[in-house]
Amino acid sequence: MFLTGIQPTGEIHLGNYFGAIRPALRMHPPGIFCLADYHALTAHAEPDLLRERVKKLAAALVALGASKGHLLYRQSDLPEVQELSWIIACHLNDGILRRNHAVKASKEKEEPIGIGMFMYPILMSADILLFQASHVPVGKDQLQHLEIAQTAAKVLNVRSLQTLEQEVVKVPEAFISENVGTIPGLDGQKMSKSKNNTIPVFIEPSELKKLVSKIKTDSTPMDQPMNPEPCTIFQLYRQLASLGEIEQMRDNYQSPVYGYGHAKRDLCLALEREFASTRERYYQLLEDEEQVEDALKTGVKFLRPIARQTLKEVRKAVGLR
Ligand code: TRP
Repeated sequence: MFLTGIQPTGEIHLGNYFGAIRPALRMHPPGIFCLADYHALTAHAEPDLLRERVKKLAAALVALGASKGHLLYRQSDLPEVQELSWIIACHLNDGILRRNHAVKASKEKEEPIGIGMFMYPILMSADILLFQASHVPVGKDQLQHLEIAQTAAKVLNVRSLQTLEQEVVKVPEAFISENVGTIPGLDGQKMSKSKNNTIPVFIEPSELKKLVSKIKTDSTPMDQPMNPEPCTIFQLYRQLASLGEIEQMRDNYQSPVYGYGHAKRDLCLALEREFASTRERYYQLLEDEEQVEDALKTGVKFLRPIARQTLKEVRKAVGLR
């Protein structure tokens, strides 16, 4: 069973969707989506804003299908994860966390780093180990975090082999979807909220058109062949289109009567086709909080016993009651 976590830090954008959410939605057997609101506390959003973001992310995930076949839960509905976090923290040294990119970056800037930010990979490890997840779909940038989760699992198992003569947690494996690659944003760099170059998944068609028109392209004149590979429009389009459609766009890029304006129009059409009905569902769900809460409750109901069982064994292994 896989587990993936998504933080409520802002609106879901195409980078999140193509890079993380869709590959997970397509995994078999089905798995677990964690709405990581404890993690989001590291960003210090205003409480009302954080609640609003959680609500929107939950609606978005339900609309996209994360609670159908899969299980969706809100991290803070299972505070058991905090206890496991603490137990993991007591079994690791600081070195493993200091190698973390985010920690290194703030050290280079000589800025202090919040303890929550520092502990972040431990909380993520606890998410994974608590439910005995076997696979974690990750981008290459999260691989380092997963290695921490693997170390945490091995250390707990070494301990429990001494005390209970059995392992208590599964050592998770990374699942990297090779063909996804990096999803470029409006400026051609990796799409990311911090770079302010995102295209949100659930925006109105007119807004979408405006955003797509802002995608940066080179200045190849219309009558010259354009190169699809480095082109952001093409890179986004290929995530949505059939093989035939992708080939067609490749050919079009060679045509003297097809320019970036046409490519942007085709991208908008493909985005509309992919998201029109999900967007409608998303807006319905925002109005119908109960439906979303029901989906979250179903997730918790199923997952709580698994969490408690893991915690019971881990507690025993380390000498708690
Ligand atoms: N760290 C992930 C991110 O920032 C979110 C996350 C929380 C996560 N718990 C997880 C990812 C467990 C994978 C598995 O996107």
